[in-house]
Amino acid sequence: MKKPVGIFDSGIGGLSVLKALRAELPGEDFIYIADSGHAPYGERDDAHVISRSQGITRWLLAQDIQALVIACNTATAAAIHLLRAKHPVLPIIGVEPALKPAVPLSSTRRIGVMATRGTLASSKFRALLASQAGQADFVLQGCDGLADAIERSAASGDDAQVLAACKRHIEAMGRFGDQPDEIDTLVLGCTHYPFAEAQLRQLLGPQVQIISNGEAIARQTRRQLTTLAEAEHVSGSIRLLTTGDASALGAAAHRWLGLPAYDAALVNL
Ligand code: DGL
Repeated sequence: MKKPVGIFDSGIGGLSVLKALRAELPGEDFIYIADSGHAPYGERDDAHVISRSQGITRWLLAQDIQALVIACNTATAAAIHLLRAKHPVLPIIGVEPALKPAVPLSSTRRIGVMATRGTLASSKFRALLASQAGQADFVLQGCDGLADAIERSAASGDDAQVLAACKRHIEAMGRFGDQPDEIDTLVLGCTHYPFAEAQLRQLLGPQVQIISNGEAIARQTRRQLTTLAEAEHVSGSIRLLTTGDASALGAAAHRWLGLPAYDAALVNL
């Protein structure tokens, strides 16, 4: 009997990881939880993010998942060590801003990092940054309001607030471009932000590289699964659940996963 892979985020951002997971593991079944009723994580304290992550993990374990993907940088930073300690047998895959892959791609050695305030303040991120000391200058930007604007655009279809939030944060980071002292590489350190890539591209122009790591997470997940779905399972199933607005999650899955509209359902947890 094939067991599903559990995946969660504070909201719809983890759909950017689910998209890569489906491409890498098309035969697997997935249960996705968007914790939109308790978002944003990045502007709440650690205790909130830890308790939500623990509750969601318990609920997913009751669905007999074979592995857990924390498709949220903020929840990974706050809770992955606690979840791994509590569930030592469960493969748990987390996500962190792609600083390491960005370094060899940058010619100006000036790299922008957009993430939530919670991720940037975490000791996990500080350790990651310290591990890259001397490799490049990292310009860090805590992007208050951006994940929330992306959530709201999923429900309304109106991207004006997303563009405004991107503009505010990009301007605060300084000059972008491929000349010395300019930021030529931008790391999207929150799983929501790939859904603002069109707006970022519009603001940054073509020469800036925009990096996210959904594909890397998907490859890492594949390596952690002990049994892969048989080849004859051409297409696994997806269950989309949310603690917030089910129609917004369904609309986002339709718009961004390029799949037929799924019925997203409300879950109380
Ligand atoms: N998608 C989440 C992340 O990767 C955070 C968004 C939020 O603040 O809730 O960090």
